[in-house]
Amino acid sequence: MQTDLRGRDFISDMDFSKEEIETVMDVAFKLKRDRALGIRHPLLEDKTLALLFFFTSTRTRSSFEVGMAQMAGHAAFIDSTTTQISHGDTAKEIGEIYGRYYDGIAIRQCDWDFGNKYINDVAAASRVPVLNMQCDVYHPFQILADLMTIIEKVGDPRGKTINVSWAYASSYQKPISVPQSLILQMTRFGMNVRLTHPPEYKLMPDIVQQAKDNARKHGGSFEQLDEFDAGFVDADIVYPKSWGALLTTTDNAESAAIGAQYKDWITDEQRMALAKDNAIYMHCLPADRNIEVTDGVIDGPNSVVYDEAENRLHAQKAVMALTMR
Ligand code: CP
Repeated sequence: MQTDLRGRDFISDMDFSKEEIETVMDVAFKLKRDRALGIRHPLLEDKTLALLFFFTSTRTRSSFEVGMAQMAGHAAFIDSTTTQISHGDTAKEIGEIYGRYYDGIAIRQCDWDFGNKYINDVAAASRVPVLNMQCDVYHPFQILADLMTIIEKVGDPRGKTINVSWAYASSYQKPISVPQSLILQMTRFGMNVRLTHPPEYKLMPDIVQQAKDNARKHGGSFEQLDEFDAGFVDADIVYPKSWGALLTTTDNAESAAIGAQYKDWITDEQRMALAKDNAIYMHCLPADRNIEVTDGVIDGPNSVVYDEAENRLHAQKAVMALTMR
């Protein structure tokens, strides 16, 4: 167990070693169990966390706010449009100044080819931990909750097959951060990771290379498929979600035309039947219902999406407690 996480940033999934992620899981399960038993953990009394959002959120905002309150701290929700950022406050100024007010700075900045750089620029100027609530490259807290959910539902992740698949959605060009963080983290836990997508929906080559390296190092495997049904076959865990063709085009109209070729990439009962009988269906949410996934699957017996959403709270409490004390 590696417990010396005090003061550390968590921006990329790889910022914490595998052993440190195991420590986070251990603490998260304890905090979840103790919450159910009514055992209080005022671990962050007198501590404050800035929650700086450049993008909307249902789960991330609430789970960070509630997590801070449950540990006797305070989270300040800051909508970037209500700040002076558009009038000139730089990433350095946010890092320097918020770092002097708060005990941690959490940021969601998903703008393509910008968000990750912005969060790292804030971190470079900050004297307190900077936590990535999702950028254009990574969504590390989502994947901690996903790992926790897999351990709860499937048991030891080693040797289990997870299908990280693209699915069609019409709402908007969703970030590629969830599949990228999934293939990075799950390959460190000895899983057989499948990445399934049409050719236009590639992920960043260096992230894919890191996933391959992780699989080699940690005894799992990593394979890439381009056929939707094939990804489901005999999988223990299916995680089909939409993401934008951002490495192919950033033009919304062109992207919509590309996506329209793959409208049949919807997770339905027939696709689920290709996976193992007890396979779990995961999604970070929000999902485009009956476009990306049928109601029958997302509300069905194999779906774990609400437990997955709940685990955001417990996993984030663990990281906040370990980094901000
Ligand atoms: N999964 C997730 O990050 O949800 P929100 O966008 O609602 O925060």
